Amino acid sequence: MMRSLMTVLCVAALGGCGSKPPKEAESVGSASDGSAATQPGTSPATPAPVEPAAPTEPAKPEPAKPAEATKPAEATKPAEATKPAEATKPAEATKPAEATKPADATKPASRPAPARPDPGRAKADLLAAETRAWNAAKPVLQKYCANCHTQGARGATKKKLDHFDMTSYPVSGHHAATIGITMRDVLGLSGKKATMPFGKPGAVEGDDLAAIKAWTDAWEAAEKAGAHPAAGGH
Ligand code: HEC
Repeated sequence: MMRSLMTVLCVAALGGCGSKPPKEAESVGSASDGSAATQPGTSPATPAPVEPAAPTEPAKPEPAKPAEATKPAEATKPAEATKPAEATKPAEATKPAEATKPADATKPASRPAPARPDPGRAKADLLAAETRAWNAAKPVLQKYCANCHTQGARGATKKKLDHFDMTSYPVSGHHAATIGITMRDVLGLSGKKATMPFGKPGAVEGDDLAAIKAWTDAWEAAEKAGAHPAAGGH
């Protein structure tokens, strides 16, 4: 209505229209507060939501900015701080763990390789145990047997030494290949009647006899493991 009246007035009084826009501007401006360009008809509807939105926007962006500024900052800082920290820690924790595990896995894997010669180690260990047992029994052997079965001893003869020579270890003599078993025989440990020491059979008893028996056991264990190189007989 206003417009039609305005335009009519404009048409009616030409030249007056130049002065009328200020009226429109005043009238519209009072109604919408908006700019003159958006005023035609739709201006009261659109500028209203736009303008109120505008004053709220600067309010929102302000809290939103600090919120976004703080949130991303806090979110990224702790996130970056914790994530890389946690990521690196477990990574480092798992890497060395995995690195050590495969390392351990490879070590035992590589150990079986030396485990193949392990029978060799086992034999060596058995021989070592045998030698220790011999050394433990040696005082007894020295006391009861050395006089006739050690080179250079007063009672030693070629015959006796050929049977059993305990000058060095492993012993020699043609019973050497079975000396552990033969020793049991001559000392009465295998059920047979004792024959040594020669002339005093059965003189070795108790702990002395036990010490020699322990050696015969160690010898037998090594023998069964194939630790004795020369299994040949006489
Ligand atoms: C006094 C000397 C003498 C002493 C000590 C002696 N032996 Fe003999 N030993 C002999 C003679 C001699 C033979 C050979 C026996 C034979 O030919 O029947 C022999 C043989 C052996 C043999 C060969 C197997 C056998 O029966 O012919 C063994 C093993 C042996 N002695 C172990 C020992 C042990 C172990 C001791 C100590 C506990 C020992 N002897 C002490 C003189 C001795």
